[in-house]
Amino acid sequence: MEVVFSGMRPTGRLHLGHMAGALTNWVRLQDDHECYFSLVDWHALMSDYADPRKLGENTREILLDWLAVGLDPEKCAIFVQSHVRGHIELHLALSLLTPLGWLERNPTYKEQILNLQNKDLSTYGFLGYPVLMASDILIYKATKVPVGEDQSAHLELSREIARRFNHLYGKGREIFPEPETILTRYPKIPGTDGRKMSKSYGNTLDIADEISALDKKIRTMITDPAREKRRDPGEPGKCPAWDLHKFFNDDPSQMEEIPVGCRTAGIGCIDCKKMLIAHVAKRMAPVHERRRHFESREGELKDILISGAERARERSERTMDEVRDALCMLEI
Ligand code: TRP
Repeated sequence: MEVVFSGMRPTGRLHLGHMAGALTNWVRLQDDHECYFSLVDWHALMSDYADPRKLGENTREILLDWLAVGLDPEKCAIFVQSHVRGHIELHLALSLLTPLGWLERNPTYKEQILNLQNKDLSTYGFLGYPVLMASDILIYKATKVPVGEDQSAHLELSREIARRFNHLYGKGREIFPEPETILTRYPKIPGTDGRKMSKSYGNTLDIADEISALDKKIRTMITDPAREKRRDPGEPGKCPAWDLHKFFNDDPSQMEEIPVGCRTAGIGCIDCKKMLIAHVAKRMAPVHERRRHFESREGELKDILISGAERARERSERTMDEVRDALCMLEI
């Protein structure tokens, strides 16, 4: 079976952008792949090292979101990154052979330094963010990595690091396979203000939001600004609510009628949003039910993480034996 790895940083509750962007793929892949899904707490610390107080709580929240959307601990290994020591060990090995230039040139790195000006990210650790990502993936020899599009540059580096390791130590053999990026077929889910959905913009629809909260947020979210009055025609391509329809609406006739109605002002934004809210409510009901189920079961959550880490440790230790051997470390 092909191996899949992916991770998310525990920095707060997840939103529908995470659901459409990556989690739907994870849930699909767990049926016929050997999957490792990690709550990457070390990565969260790389940007939040100055105030780690919420780390444990956030890790638990994301675990609940994952289980809520349908990740099944019987089918995949769900674990906390810091519980599996190999990630850190391989991170060091890979950091030795990663040229500084690769990291400094990384567009995501440059962008984050600019975007997160309130945090001092000019640290040694943060520069190595993609090296730890590479170690997360390569330690399981994962060949598929389902992520949001924003991770593509990082994953390109993972492949380059794998190639360099193989070149230096593989003696013609491929120790690490090059991981492939798996992107979702859904368009980016915009936030309620039309910008990218992001906690820092305060425009998110959260997985854990009650239906009543989602209803309120959707009813007040922006639509095509050209539709100022009910009789003004609009363009679905300019409407963030339409992007939500594409993810949530599974009624083919509505999906045909809405764009026509919008362009001819046959339907109003309120009608359109009512349909959307009904689909969101239908899709999120079982998600919320699962979340509530797990919220009150601390013991079960703990067992999931313990057995997930055991499975992850088993596979990662096998790789680390090969790595120590490749690096000519003395065996005892
Ligand atoms: N950087 C990813 C994010 O911010 C999280 C992550 C860490 C990850 N390690 C990974 C994703 C390895 C895929 C593979 O969402």
